Amino acid sequence: MRKKKILFVCLGNICRSPLAEAIFKHKLRQKGIQDQFEVDSCGTANYHIGDSPDKRTISNAKKNGVTVNHIGRQLQAEDLDYYDLILAMDKSNLANIFSLQSNEDQIAKITLMREYDPLQNGEEVPDPYYGGEQSFQHIFDILERSTEALIEKLMAKD
Ligand code: 4NP
Repeated sequence: MRKKKILFVCLGNICRSPLAEAIFKHKLRQKGIQDQFEVDSCGTANYHIGDSPDKRTISNAKKNGVTVNHIGRQLQAEDLDYYDLILAMDKSNLANIFSLQSNEDQIAKITLMREYDPLQNGEEVPDPYYGGEQSFQHIFDILERSTEALIEKLMAKD
């Protein structure tokens, strides 16, 4: 069976997208369906290439039972062909992803993460970088329910 390839994208790839990747993978393992997916995250900016996730992301995720393990990388034009679904954390990320778009097939793959949020559709996952622990818990909660809904949708298609 062909694996579903999912890419989470934010600005720096040290807060939101590596957390989304970690929660998504955690849920896949819990459900025993990790073999059906290939999952990664990246940033639209080049600030944190090669960096570990932000310490606050790691500690908040750990408090919530999730291990975050990622090395920062920047989005490449090739990612838009390679991945099946590309999830932007905010509208600025979405615009930056679309700026690399080069064919019609890519358009349908790109959307906002919160299109899958059962409580609030179409809104952004706010950048927690200048916030405190509350901001990190807020994005954890958004990503927890959004990734759950995303997995349900992806598995329902089979
Ligand atoms: P992220 O958060 O996009 O969720 O990883 C940010 C991380 C770093 C910066 C901005 C946002 N920065 O400006 O370095």
